[in-house]
Amino acid sequence: MRFFAVLLLSFFLPAAAFAEEGGPRAFTPCRACHSLDPAERGLPGPNLSGLIGRTVAGDPAFDYSPALRKAHDDGLRWDEKRLDTFLTDPAAMFPGLWMSMPGIEDAAERQALVKLLAAPFPGRGAAYQ
Ligand code: HEC
Repeated sequence: MRFFAVLLLSFFLPAAAFAEEGGPRAFTPCRACHSLDPAERGLPGPNLSGLIGRTVAGDPAFDYSPALRKAHDDGLRWDEKRLDTFLTDPAAMFPGLWMSMPGIEDAAERQALVKLLAAPFPGRGAAYQ
């Protein structure tokens, strides 16, 4: 029950706050599981602040799947091209991924997400690794 309430909250409250900040609509579905604020913890997915340039599975507070941990151990890093490929079909890039999200077919929508994830979080910087 508590989990359900938290899930509901994470769907509605942050999405509204984010819209007020003028963030691209493309991130709204991700917002249920991910935050770009390095201070925000405890969501169902890893924190995505400072994603571009950091290693795959680079949130030290998140318990990743073996698939992503292996990519991390192999030294894979996120760059804009890799993120675009990932968003096109996440499970194809990392079979066994624990993120149940279909790929995004619209290239413009993917690019909007890549740009957003490459930008530092407003006011806090991207000092997160
Ligand atoms: C239902 C929850 C959920 C939604 C919605 C979701 N994700 Fe995820 N995401 C996850 C989980 C869980 C993981 C970790 C997967 C694993 O360990 O295999 C993850 C991992 C990731 C990673 C890799 C992070 C890293 O540290 O290397 C990226 C990038 C990512 N998601 C982007 C997105 C984007 C962009 C969206 C929206 C278009 C999105 N996700 C929507 C749950 C979600």
